[in-house]
Amino acid sequence: MNDQPDSAVVEMLVELAGRAPSVHNSQPWRWVYSEHGLDLFTDRSRLLGAIDPTERQLVLSCGAALDHLCTAAAAFRWTADVESMPTPGAPDHLARVRLTHDAHPRSHEFDLLAAINRRHSDRRAFGPVPNNRIPARYPRRVDGVHDVRTTFLSAEAKETLATASRLSANVRKYDASYQAEIRWWAGHSFRSGGIPPEALTDRTESSRVRVGREFPEPHRIGRTGTAATDESTVVLLGTASDERVNWLQCGRVMSAFLLAATADGLATCPLTHMTEQAGSRALVESLAPGRGVPQVLIRIGAPMVGSPLAPTPRRAVSSVLSVATGSTARGTRKTLPL
Ligand SMILES: Cc1cc2nc3c(=O)[nH]c(=O)nc-3n(C[C@H](O)[C@H](O)[C@H](O)COP(=O)(O)O)c2cc1C
Repeated sequence: MNDQPDSAVVEMLVELAGRAPSVHNSQPWRWVYSEHGLDLFTDRSRLLGAIDPTERQLVLSCGAALDHLCTAAAAFRWTADVESMPTPGAPDHLARVRLTHDAHPRSHEFDLLAAINRRHSDRRAFGPVPNNRIPARYPRRVDGVHDVRTTFLSAEAKETLATASRLSANVRKYDASYQAEIRWWAGHSFRSGGIPPEALTDRTESSRVRVGREFPEPHRIGRTGTAATDESTVVLLGTASDERVNWLQCGRVMSAFLLAATADGLATCPLTHMTEQAGSRALVESLAPGRGVPQVLIRIGAPMVGSPLAPTPRRAVSSVLSVATGSTARGTRKTLPL
């Protein structure tokens, strides 16, 4: 434990990890710091039972938080050694992170750190990615993750995605549990989670995008300010199989991709409505045969002129991090049994 950071450092890293994207901004994670390291657990009280009954998106979200933490740690000279699913028979224990103060960050790592606070999910129409080329380095940064496949979908494939998107919206239309859940999480403000109205687009803007999730009214603002159609590229992340560990790894790669794109000034938005049900998921899979089980799509492009988006709210660090008594870490909330 002597080489481990004190709890003030861990608090800062957990706060930065908390800026990660999560399904409907549910932030379904909790962290425990002890002499064993920094452990990441799911927070099932934040599960979206209708949207995500298998916990797939909950684990994807935790994977994103894990990658955010490792990215932030690197910029502060901490090497993060990640053990995935470290406790057999304990599926909520997603990862154990051991931090060693021996990293030598390069300028790109500082750019990624800055991107953590700048990134947001932008649901407006985008311009094309410069030169229509997404740098190959975007998905390649995550150590120890090998089975997540990234596929850049063609412009023609977007027609099929629009069909998958409509299919998913039609199936959900009369699904009362889904509608209740999305109305709870999206479109009104609460202090520490959910998607505020300001982050949602109005009907005109969402009709330009065509592959976005349908959110309930009120759609408020977030206009591009132009009459342009969406020229974003859509990237598909797929995994070799559809297990918890694949979801975790996929969340890490998703986060790495989003941060690299943000650092380059691009706008992004993760999309999962098309992978929530068998019909639309199969359509997505047909666009990339042999490229794994579709988990998440990412819309990426050049941001258009328009008002910048305000950061979405987050839970306080004190409600997601506990420091075990008996560890040499100092500060923070001392509680807790593992
Ligand atoms: C697993 C996952 C699924 C998501 N699915 C969608 C989606 O289908 N549509 C969408 O507009 N945003 C989606 N998002 C983005 C979240 O709504 C967003 O991350 C959250 O509201 C926090 O806002 P921020 O990303 O701007 O920080 C998803 C994010 C994650 C991690």
